[in-house]
Amino acid sequence: MPSPQYDMVLLGPTGYTGRFCADHIVQNHPTNLKWAIAGRSAAKMDPIAKELQALVPDRVQPGMMSFLAFPSFIPLNHSF
Ligand SMILES: NC(=O)c1ccc[n+]([C@@H]2O[C@H](COP(=O)([O-])OP(=O)(O)OC[C@H]3O[C@@H](n4cnc5c(N)ncnc54)[C@H](OP(=O)(O)O)[C@@H]3O)[C@@H](O)[C@H]2O)c1
Repeated sequence: MPSPQYDMVLLGPTGYTGRFCADHIVQNHPTNLKWAIAGRSAAKMDPIAKELQALVPDRVQPGMMSFLAFPSFIPLNHSF
């Protein structure tokens, strides 16, 4: 089986709890974690990705993906 592109994908980063979770990942998880945020709107996720990058610039930055594609070991669902 091929390795997934990401170790972890956070669904719903544009929401209230999703944003808390994203900040927690950036500030507490290993800096080499391969992770992504997934949502319905790239326009809404773009500024969030930039803010996350500014929080801890030296870590591997999150990818961005469509809500429906999450090839990770651990999808973290913070939506609906
Ligand atoms: N708020 C709290 O204090 C709290 C506490 C404990 C548990 N929870 C639970 O956490 C969950 C999220 O609550 P929240 O307050 O964070 O909600 P929220 O602020 O309204 O955020 C909802 C998130 O889900 C996404 N979403 C909504 N409908 C979707 C759909 N049909 N397909 C894909 N994405 C969808 C939204 O994306 P878009 O930006 O694209 O709309 C947004 O990222 C709920 O189950 C809630 O019960 C909340």
